[in-house]
Amino acid sequence: MIYRIGVIGLGYVGLPLACAFASRSFKVIGLDTDLEKIESIKNAETPIYEEGLQELLKKVLEDKTFKVASSYKEVVEEAEVYFICVGTPSNPDGSVDLKYVKEAVEMLSESLKRVEKYSLLVVRSTIPPGTTSNIIRSIVEERSGKKLGEYGLCFNPEFLREGNALHDIFNPDRIIIGAIDEKSGAFLLDVYKKFHGDSMPPILLTNPTNAELIKYANNVFLATKISFINMVSQLCQNLPDADVKIVAEGIGMDKRIGREFLNAGLGWGGSCFPKDVKAFLRFGEEMGLDFGLVKSIIKINESQIKNAIKLAEELVGRFKGKTISILGLAFKPGTDDVRESRSIRLIDELLKYNVKIKVHDPKALEKAKKILGDRVIYCRTIEECLSNSDLCIVATEWSEYKEIKQEMLKKYMRNPALLDCRRLYDPEQFKDVRFAAIGLGYKKAGH
Ligand code: UGA
Repeated sequence: MIYRIGVIGLGYVGLPLACAFASRSFKVIGLDTDLEKIESIKNAETPIYEEGLQELLKKVLEDKTFKVASSYKEVVEEAEVYFICVGTPSNPDGSVDLKYVKEAVEMLSESLKRVEKYSLLVVRSTIPPGTTSNIIRSIVEERSGKKLGEYGLCFNPEFLREGNALHDIFNPDRIIIGAIDEKSGAFLLDVYKKFHGDSMPPILLTNPTNAELIKYANNVFLATKISFINMVSQLCQNLPDADVKIVAEGIGMDKRIGREFLNAGLGWGGSCFPKDVKAFLRFGEEMGLDFGLVKSIIKINESQIKNAIKLAEELVGRFKGKTISILGLAFKPGTDDVRESRSIRLIDELLKYNVKIKVHDPKALEKAKKILGDRVIYCRTIEECLSNSDLCIVATEWSEYKEIKQEMLKKYMRNPALLDCRRLYDPEQFKDVRFAAIGLGYKKAGH
């Protein structure tokens, strides 16, 4: 049997998931409360930028394997597996706001009341440990009047990187299934077996609480790895001849450590790491545990902004009256997402010094405008952004920025100077201009 899939929440997680299932002959029906998003999806226009998604959406709509639902009732009637992919924003105190998850579960459960078939709810939204077994299960049973066995429930975390979401759905390192009972776990496992066929990734089948913890521990560990190398980068800057890139390379050769997520830079941003790290700290505090390590990685992440400002000041002298070009606004390359972007944090800080800021990004200009408004000048090309400027700061490592050469800086800038916050450049190639980089010993940086 090929299962029919319902996807609630068609954002960065849900839309790629829906299109991926639909591209492998599953029948998929998606729902979102954002009408603007729905209109754009119906017109085969992805509301977000995600590699390969535009083409896939067009294809699955044409093939009629994916359609947009108008109600929860329709989703429940036309599918038997429902993936809940709605947002879980942070409350001001760092805890997780579950209102969208609860609302989706309530609505699905109300409709479940009216159907006989066994159906499975799969929560993909990141939720605190214990939420599936304690909160979600009670909502389903109260609202649907069904007992476990008549319905199924799993927490199935996503490990998708924005910009690589489709790749990560088709080629995951592993699938974690946190099943509330055996039948639910077996059901979801079968869905994935049908999706992956002969190339089934490793599976960990466990209870929902472990699966919920795995999601948080995974992200907090990766953020810790980045903060660790950023701490080392600050040390490197104080040692002539030291270079964090080489240090990362060396420690990354140890198989127990690995090279990935050891790129020093402005720190971690995006819609996941900052939110999940804060929530993790909060669970620890609520349980009276000393999560000093987590506090430290947040502190290091903040200090990288100050570190960049210090390097910038050393390059240009006093900021007042200067023009600074910022290349890169997205929180990382390959996406138009600017949520918790370190680049925007840096711009906010720089603006306090009365500087004129010009910005460029290949994909994120529109989204950045909603946050930065008229406080900066938006540029369509790199050349336009560099012209008449006193300092260029590369804040996101888009591949097009790798092509920048010192001749280009000399041609367009008033005072050519480059601050490499994402370690894109070979300092040797920038000997004729003022150059500094995060994690690069001062002597090398031309001081
Ligand atoms: C992250 C995780 O990588 C995914 O596995 C997870 O599913 C996702 O969060 C989520 O919880 O939904 P994402 O936020 O898309 O994915 O971005 P990453 O590629 O992990 O990068 C996060 C931040 O860390 C970015 O600001 C990036 O610039 C920064 N970073 C990453 C570094 O500064 N150095 C590195 O070496 C790697």
